[in-house]
Amino acid sequence: MSSIKLRAVVALAGLALVCAAQAAQKEAAPPKKAAAHAKKAAAAKDPVAADFEKFHEIMEEDSPAELFEAKGAEMWKTKRGPNHVSLEKCNLGLGPGVVKGAYVQMPRYFADAGQMMDAERRIVYCMVTLQGFKEADLAKKPFSKGSYLPDPVALVTYVAGQSRNMKIAVPQKLPQERAAYKLGEEIFNYRAGPWDFSCATCHGEDGKRIRTQNLPNLASKVDAVRAFQGWPGYRMTGGLMHTLQWRMNDCFRQQRFPEPGYASETIADLLTYMGVNANGHLYKGPGIKR
Ligand code: HEC
Repeated sequence: MSSIKLRAVVALAGLALVCAAQAAQKEAAPPKKAAAHAKKAAAAKDPVAADFEKFHEIMEEDSPAELFEAKGAEMWKTKRGPNHVSLEKCNLGLGPGVVKGAYVQMPRYFADAGQMMDAERRIVYCMVTLQGFKEADLAKKPFSKGSYLPDPVALVTYVAGQSRNMKIAVPQKLPQERAAYKLGEEIFNYRAGPWDFSCATCHGEDGKRIRTQNLPNLASKVDAVRAFQGWPGYRMTGGLMHTLQWRMNDCFRQQRFPEPGYASETIADLLTYMGVNANGHLYKGPGIKR
């Protein structure tokens, strides 16, 4: 058996154990809580979705995402890169070094860069301007694969964790921020490619699904939170930690569009559109994705 396969099996066995333990705890839950669970499950429209919801809730209570948060926290404070400095002076929009609450207020316009930036784009910017990393190097392998974890993924997960249970409040004060929303909306609805698909083709209506996956209607106030909630996310398929950069990249692929640039302004605009739609919802932090 290859080492990757073996790792996956070990990881899965570990997850199964966690689930079993959690399930046992659940059984012993007070009847009131159990009843609430049952009611919620029954309210879901179909059994596949309801089963997944249940599994998801159990997993979320002991999320592996926390390991990645810890890794990112360590990395944030460590002197790194050619300039041998930490990221503790990085300004995520609320002032140099302020991490708490920054994630739920991005994307935003950063005057120093003259650009709209989502969390990952901003972190990459700090890694380049403060630590001296090369953007082109960071863009070479930006997504988790096998045992490889890109630095920005750990860092974004840490930063996101520092906004846990805070209200999503993507700013729309500046004209640049309002322009980004409009652009994001256009990109979301722009149909092209061999299938003439837009994001809205898959995510613009209630109740759509591909196989067993419900497709959130990201243009609606209720579902839009799914472009925020649980991201960055630990994906059970493959056992990898991914940020929204990866999710966007993968959806552009599903749309049969050319791959977008890593941490590009296009993605910042799209995330502004979806983020503003999700404003007012509570962000529960990095989570678990199927
Ligand atoms: C061909 C259909 C298709 C197209 C087109 C598409 N997506 Fe997706 N999208 C999916 C699928 C499938 C998932 C995964 C759903 C799951 O795993 O539950 C997904 C997931 C997502 C998620 C995460 C939702 C969640 O619950 O975590 C976001 C955000 C998203 N897409 C945004 C976009 C954007 C923005 C575009 C346009 C650039 C787009 N998608 C284009 C099929 C599509």
